[in-house]
Amino acid sequence: MKALVIGGGGREHALCWKLKKSPSVEHVWCAPGNDGIAQDAECLPVPVNDIAGILALARKLRPDITVVGPEEPLVLGLSDELSRNGFHSIGPSRAAAQLEGSKVFAKQFMDRHGIPTPRIYGVYDDLAKAETALETIPLPVVIKADGPCAGKGVLVTGSLLEAQHFVRRLMGQKEFGAAGGTVLLEEALEGVELSFIVLSDGQNLMPMVPARDHKRVFDDDRGPNTGGMGAYSADGMLSTDLAAEILEKVVRPTLDGIARESSLFVGFLYSGLMLTPKGPQVLEYNCRMGDPECQAIVARMDFDFGEALQAAAQGHLEGFSAHWNPAASVCVVLTSGGYPGAYHTGKRISGLHEAEKAGDVVVFHSATKAADGSFVTAGGRVLGVTAAAGDLRSAAARAYAAAGRIRFDDMHYRKDIAYK
Ligand code: AMP
Ligand code: GLY
Repeated sequence: MKALVIGGGGREHALCWKLKKSPSVEHVWCAPGNDGIAQDAECLPVPVNDIAGILALARKLRPDITVVGPEEPLVLGLSDELSRNGFHSIGPSRAAAQLEGSKVFAKQFMDRHGIPTPRIYGVYDDLAKAETALETIPLPVVIKADGPCAGKGVLVTGSLLEAQHFVRRLMGQKEFGAAGGTVLLEEALEGVELSFIVLSDGQNLMPMVPARDHKRVFDDDRGPNTGGMGAYSADGMLSTDLAAEILEKVVRPTLDGIARESSLFVGFLYSGLMLTPKGPQVLEYNCRMGDPECQAIVARMDFDFGEALQAAAQGHLEGFSAHWNPAASVCVVLTSGGYPGAYHTGKRISGLHEAEKAGDVVVFHSATKAADGSFVTAGGRVLGVTAAAGDLRSAAARAYAAAGRIRFDDMHYRKDIAYK
């Protein structure tokens, strides 16, 4: 089969890398990809939000499957367009992608289907009303922009001043445009977070191994939220009982609810959970693989990924059995200093080759450009150094040893991924 991957970040590099290794896959394209991804796929310069352009590309290339990495094209209706034109895709319809596209929609959906999620205090599209509400609700509080903001539209705070400052940035200064025009105020929960991702063909599902992201920019979960600073996956993260509870209380009702309300959910459903004494609670849904969770997850796949995706797209996932190996993986994200705020790019990267010399280490490129036979930085999250091993401690040690060989000016990374 031939596969087309949509996107151009570290997650898409991981998807292409694994597809290229799949015995069932003979060719991988990536649109737009990046210069690092070009090591594993043929990259074509069509941006992810150019739905007509991607459709034209599919008509020309005739891929057997199109795997949509990021949410933006899904929210814009790419999967609907592809299936209308007879192409199989991994990624839900525009209507189903609202689970990620609008946090207000997701909350109301969970309410309708009895899916456990933190209580909300209110939804506001007026700055003055949001500011007044903040004065009366208990702290800490969680403030969420309704629309997607690349992981930066959420603040959890115990400070009224900080909360007010954040709603002003979202609603007054429109820092994220329309995505922040409506905000939701929500109860803050304590617990351990878990990214629980399943591949679904609409009816049957195949859970990925559990993963955990590290969203804050600095060690010990300090500093602002980012798109994700690192992730790990390990067998011991989730008991069989808890996995069964998550499937029964969250995943199954979500897939069934979406099927009843709009269309079958074909693709990756990501439930961002807080594990609390009262059970798992959904903080957010994504309609795609996580980034960098995907990097940690593919490092543990010991099956033909292309075959699994094709089974999902064709509605035959029940016949597919996945084997996961080895027991743990860790992805450490190397960023440009300053991210998630302003940062410089164009910094020369050294040590990539040395980093990958150790076995079971792969460096996924999130944002790099080829220059003079090497690479320079081209974004906030630059690389995802990913290692697998028989236990979590060894996987982390391996990832950090490899990360230590890579250098660029102002490079930053967390030193505590997977250590807690
Ligand atoms: P979200 O995009 O909704 O997943 O939010 C981003 C991050 O904010 C989550 O991964 C959590 O770390 C945090 N967060 C979101 N909602 C809550 C909540 N209700 N209580 C505590 N932390 C939260
Ligand atoms: N790593 C979190 C996300 O992809 O949304």
